[in-house]
This record gives sequence, structure tokens and C-alpha cells, in this order.
Amino acid sequence: MENNQKVCVIGLGYVGFPLAVLCSVKGYEVYGYDKDKEKLARIEKKENIVEEKYLDEMIPKAKINIVRDENEIRNCDISIIAVPTPVDEKHFPDLSFVQSASQTVAKNLKPGALVIVESTINPGVCDEIVRPIFEKEGYTVGKDVFISHCPERINPGDSKWNVANIPRVVGSFEKNGLEKALDFYRSVIDAEIMPMETIQEAEAVKIVENSFRDINIAFVNELAKSFSLMGIDVTNVIRGAATKPFAFMPHWPSRGVGGHCIPVDPYYLIEKAKDYDFDHQFLRIARAINNSMPFYTIELLQTALAEIGKSLKNADIGILGVSYKANVGDLRESPTLKIIKNLEENGAKLHVYDPYIPEHSNVSGIEEILEKSEAVMVLTDHREFLEIALEDYKKQGIKAIIDGMNCLDKKKILELGMIYKGIGR
Ligand SMILES: NC(=O)c1ccc[n+]([C@@H]2O[C@H](COP(=O)([O-])OP(=O)(O)OC[C@H]3O[C@@H](n4cnc5c(N)ncnc54)[C@H](O)[C@@H]3O)[C@@H](O)[C@H]2O)c1
Repeated sequence: MENNQKVCVIGLGYVGFPLAVLCSVKGYEVYGYDKDKEKLARIEKKENIVEEKYLDEMIPKAKINIVRDENEIRNCDISIIAVPTPVDEKHFPDLSFVQSASQTVAKNLKPGALVIVESTINPGVCDEIVRPIFEKEGYTVGKDVFISHCPERINPGDSKWNVANIPRVVGSFEKNGLEKALDFYRSVIDAEIMPMETIQEAEAVKIVENSFRDINIAFVNELAKSFSLMGIDVTNVIRGAATKPFAFMPHWPSRGVGGHCIPVDPYYLIEKAKDYDFDHQFLRIARAINNSMPFYTIELLQTALAEIGKSLKNADIGILGVSYKANVGDLRESPTLKIIKNLEENGAKLHVYDPYIPEHSNVSGIEEILEKSEAVMVLTDHREFLEIALEDYKKQGIKAIIDGMNCLDKKKILELGMIYKGIGR
């Protein structure tokens, strides 16, 4: 497949890298720019830097021209910005990456080019932050440059949904920009590409999707806390409710929410609404509940230790899993980091293992964890941990298991004579 246009992707992470590969496979001449020089070197060596299996077949067929000097993007017809949009320690949105990437594109713009922001942003960012950067360089939006927003919805580690088949929404400042962006996405993605009436609507879509998840997870996390007081297993209740074939969607409680999206994006809307003196109470409460879960999980451990006459101080605690989700080595916003910090501050002796993040492990593997610990917290449902025979915990003298992901056989653990604490079960 041939395509005459040159596409540049700014920010080659979980979002930008798969898109760059896809564009190349679809026939575009692709340029990739990232501030991280090490990452560029790995991409040049054709490494699958996001470790997504579906890309293994595509990467050998793809050619990403590595850009080390910003000037080299000057001939690109389409520039796509896929840089991080985190929050700071006080949960305040940090748009500095979007600003600096927009400056890079604006300073090296091919007149008439299409610029697409894929980073997750609150309504108003394209108009209030991105547009003025181009205007400052003397460009008229809608004439010299066309700005669009198309939020990415990729779910790392998902075996079914990926950059090539997830439907998209696109918004722009004017009809021409919208048409250009729709044409581009329709040329690379095999799914519905829905035009939005305004760019603000497109910005809002992604925040709404992730806030929806955050709120629903907060609801079941709260249920986990109240049902455990009533002696009701919340996971059984959710499974029961999920038999209703309409108007119920199961969400599952856990030791907290992680990743670059769900625990971050609602803050972008919370902060933006403040400009209008609007308090997004529902989102704030959801954030607070989900932020409380790592500490709730620690309380479960303390209760279990108390049952065997121990406290956190000097207790040997095994931590299985540091990454925020199963079978990937992604640490971003992982609730386990909070758990580790708190346990260390309270004098626990931690034995930590994550097969996907060896640099965050202080033991050689599962065996050493079981040997050294008196209680174990399973905090990521990595497949390696699901394969551990529960008898092995018992054989190694583990007295209590804290199941932070509700992924273990509670009945069997209790039958084996160990203490079991799950999240609401
Ligand atoms: N990770 C996800 O699952 C996911 C899913 C959907 C949307 N998003 C959104 O997409 C955006 C990117 O997320 P990600 O997970 O790909 O982040 P990432 O951290 O994996 O990748 C971003 C890359 O941008 C680079 N970068 C930062 N500033 C730069 C600049 N000024 N110029 C060039 N490169 C720069 C970084 O070095 C990094 O390699 C965020 O807004 C995020 O919320 C992420």
C-alpha cells in the first residue's frame, strides 16, 4: 500500500509507537520524534518497545524514520502529538508536554499541514493552549494549519482491541480540518471514525469514558468496604448482578486504580470545571474512594497480622506484583507504590517481586518470597502468580494472604488453614 503523505508522530510511547508502526504499514512515510534518546535507539533497532504481541508481525514491515533534530519534521503533512498528560503530586494537570510538543510542531510546520492531538486533554486545551502556540508563530488556524483532536483509547495488553481496530472520535476547529483528520484515520483504522461537532466535544469524550470507569470502580470499592462489614462477598454479588442482561456492567473492587488514564483523567475535568465555579463532586468522591484503597488494603494486612499476634513493625511481608495491571511492566500510578511506601515507613520488612519489572524486585523470584515471608500480599494478578499452588504458600509457612486483586481461591486458602483477606470478600 502506498500513500504520498508524510506523517510525523511526536511522542513514541504506548500510544504514539503503535500508531507510528500502523501508519507505516498502511503506506505512509513515517517520522518518529521523542525526547527520550534511548527509546529512539531501541526503535531504530526494531524493538517492540511497548511489548504488544500484535505489533511483532507489523514491526519488521514498518519503517520509522528516527528524528533526532526537530527540523527534520519540516516536510510532514500530518503531525500527531502523543505525549504524556500527567498530574502533579497535588493532582493538578500538567500540560507542559503538550505545550512543548506543540511548540516543536509549530516551529517546524509545513504550511497547510494537519496537526492532531491524541494525548488525553480536557475540553478547552486545543483552543486555549494548542491554537495560540500556532498563532504566535504567525499561522492562521483553518488556513495555514488544521488542528484536530482524536483521543486514543488503546488498552495496553488487550489481545482483542488495539490501535488498528478501536473506533475513534474526531473533532476539529473547522470543516476542512475535520475532513482531513477523518480521511487520515479512515485510511489507517479499520473501525468507525465518528466526527464530533466541535473539538471540545472530542476532548470531553475521552475524559468522560475514563471518569465513567473511575466512578464505577469507586462504587464497587465502596461496596467492598460496607459488604465486608456485613459478611457479604461483594464479588459474588457483582457476579449475581451481572446476570441481568441489560443496564448493568460489572466492575471489580481492588487495592486501587492505576495507570496513566483512570486515576489521572478525572482530575483534568475537575480542574477545568473550577474555571466555571463548578464543583465536580461526583468525580472528586470517586477519586477519594479509589485513592483510599491502598490504605484499606494495608488495614486488611494489619488485621491479619493482629490475628497472629503481630504488627507491621519487623513483619516479613511478601509483595507479589508492583505494576498496576496484569502481565505488563507498567508502574505508572500503581497503587502498590503507595502500599510499599507506607509499609516501609511502618517498619515492615518487604520482599518484593514482579517478573515484569525486575528492577523493582529485591528477591530472585516467587520461591524466595514464600521462603522469607510470614504474610503475602498479591497486588497484581500476573499469570505467574495465579499459577502458584496454594499448598506452596502453606508449605513455606505463610500464615496470611492478602488478595488485593480478588484473584485467589478464598475457600481453599481457608481450608488450608491460612488467613485470607480479599477486597470485600
Ligand atoms: N497508555 C495508555 O494506555 C493510554 C491510552 C489512551 C490514551 N493515552 C494518553 O496518550 C498520551 C500518551 O500516553 P502514553 O501512555 O503513550 O505515554 P508514554 O509516556 O508511554 O509516551 C509518551 C512519550 O512522549 C515523549 N515525550 C514527552 N514530551 C515530549 C516532547 N515534548 N517531544 C517529544 N517527545 C516527548 C516521552 O519521552 C515518551 O516517550 C497521554 O495523554 C495519555 O493519557 C494513554
